[in-house]
Amino acid sequence: GRVLSVASECVPLVKTGGLADVVGALPEALAAKGWEMRVLLPAYRSLRAEAEGWPVVWEEGDLWGGQGRVLAGEVGGKSVLLLDAPHLYDREGGPYAGPQGEFPDNAIRFAALSWIAARIAREGLAGWKPDMLHAHDWQAGLAPAYLAYYGAGGVKSVMTIHNIAFQGWAPGHMLGILRLPAHAFHPEALEYYGGISSLKAGLMTADWITTVSPSYAAELMRPEFGMGLEGVMAARGRVVSGILNGVDTTIWNPAREEPGFGPKTMAGKAAARARLCQEFGLEVPGPLAIVISRLTDQKGIDLLPAVIPDFILGGGGLIVLGSGEPGMEAAMRNLAARFPGRVAVRIGYDEALSHRLFSGADAVLVPSRFEPCGLTQMYGLRYGTLPVVSLVGGLADTVIGASPATLAAGAATGVTFHPVDAMAFGQALERLQALYRQPKLWAKLRANAMAHPVGWEASAAAYAGLYERLAG
Ligand code: ADP
Ligand code: GLC
Repeated sequence: GRVLSVASECVPLVKTGGLADVVGALPEALAAKGWEMRVLLPAYRSLRAEAEGWPVVWEEGDLWGGQGRVLAGEVGGKSVLLLDAPHLYDREGGPYAGPQGEFPDNAIRFAALSWIAARIAREGLAGWKPDMLHAHDWQAGLAPAYLAYYGAGGVKSVMTIHNIAFQGWAPGHMLGILRLPAHAFHPEALEYYGGISSLKAGLMTADWITTVSPSYAAELMRPEFGMGLEGVMAARGRVVSGILNGVDTTIWNPAREEPGFGPKTMAGKAAARARLCQEFGLEVPGPLAIVISRLTDQKGIDLLPAVIPDFILGGGGLIVLGSGEPGMEAAMRNLAARFPGRVAVRIGYDEALSHRLFSGADAVLVPSRFEPCGLTQMYGLRYGTLPVVSLVGGLADTVIGASPATLAAGAATGVTFHPVDAMAFGQALERLQALYRQPKLWAKLRANAMAHPVGWEASAAAYAGLYERLAG
C-alpha cells in the first residue's frame, strides 16, 4: 500500500524534538512491511537549497496569499515532498518561530500544509495515489478534517499524537479563513474553548488515532494528562491505540561508537567514560549521569537542583546537554558552578556530543512530568546507560524498574519512580547509587538493558497492521 505522511519535522531535514526522529524513521520501517511512505513537509528556508532542481509535482495557485508548489525528491533513501510556498515558509528562524518569537500566522502556515496533504491524498500525484494519510501532531491536524469536509476520495486517515500539550488553537473568527465549514464550529467537532483547535479537528475526523505509547493513550483520557482534550479522547476511545516509538538502531549503535563496546564487552564503554570525564574536566567516583533534553517543565528539569547535591555527595557526577527556558538554563549553570569537577553543563544542541554522552555515561536521567514516549531512555537502554525515569507515558512502557522482584527475575533495566517530585526522584538516585556499588548486579542490569528491544520491528508491524485494517 501507499501512505502519505504529513508533519512539520523530519530527520535529517528539520528537527526540534523526537517528532522529527519518528517521522524520519517510519518510511524505512514501514517499507520493510510493504508500505511505501512519502513524507510531506514545508520547504522551510533551510530546506530550499536541498530541493534545488527537484521536479515540481503539484502546483497550487491560491495558497493563502501566494502560490504553492510541491517538489519531489529523495533524502537519505526517503521519498520526500516539500511544499514550497515562500510567503509562508521562506523565513529566518526555525519551523515555528523567528527572531521575534512565534510566527503570528502559524495557524495558516500549517493549514496550508494540511490543505495540500488532503488534496494530494484525495486526488493523487501523477501515478501515485495513496491509500492512507498519516497526520502527525496539530500541524497536520486539519488534513483529516479537510478530507472529512471536502471528500476523502477513498483515503483513510490516521492521526498520531506525539504531544497533546500543543493543540494548534486559533480564534473562532478564522473558521472561514481556514476554509472550514460553519457546521464544524461545534463542540462535537473542532470548536475548542471558543476557538478552533487543529489537533481536536484531526482527532474528531481521523479514521483512527494513535499515541506514541500505550500508557499515553490511557493517560490522555484522564484530566491530569489530557490537557483539556481528555473528553475528546474518551469519546473517541474506540478508535485509539498506542504504538510505541522505536529508535534507529543503525544510528544508535554502541559498536559504531567505540571498539569493544557491545552486549559482549564493555571495555569500550569504560574508555568512552574516561575520555568524557577528561573532556569535561570531571572526576567522578560514583555513577556518572547525563541529561539530554529540552529544558522545560515537561521534562522535570526544575527537580534537578533539589536532588543533585545529595547525588554529588554520594559520589555521583552529572553532565547536562540541552537548551530551553532561560530560568532552567541558569539553574543548570548554577549547578555546574557549585560543583566544579562533578557537574558540567553544555547549553545548546549537539548531536555528536549526545552520542559521546550516551556512550560514556553510566545513567541517563528522565524525570518527566509527562512523556508521550521519550527517546533518550531508549538510547540509554541500548548503550547500557541505565535510565532513571518517572513512571509516566512511554517511560513506564520502556523501562523495567529495579525492585527485589524484577532483580530476582533478572528483568530489571533501570530505576523508576513515582510520583514525579523531588523526594521520589532523590530516592531513585539513592537506589541507583546502591546498585552501582554492587558491580555484579550493575553488570546484570546493563546486560538486561542492552538486550531490551528498542528498534522499530514490532511497532512497524503494528502500524502496518493498522493501515491494512483501515485500508483493506
Ligand atoms: P521531545 O521530543 O519531547 O523533546 P524525545 O525524547 O522524544 O523528547 O526526543 C528528543 C530528541 O532530541 C532525542 O533524539 C534527543 O536525543 C534529542 N535532543 C534533545 N536535546 C538535545 C540536545 N541539546 N542536543 C542533542 N540532542 C538533543
Ligand atoms: C514528542 C514527545 C516525546 C516523543 C516524541 C516522538 O516530542 O514529547 O515524548 O518521544 O514526540 O513521538
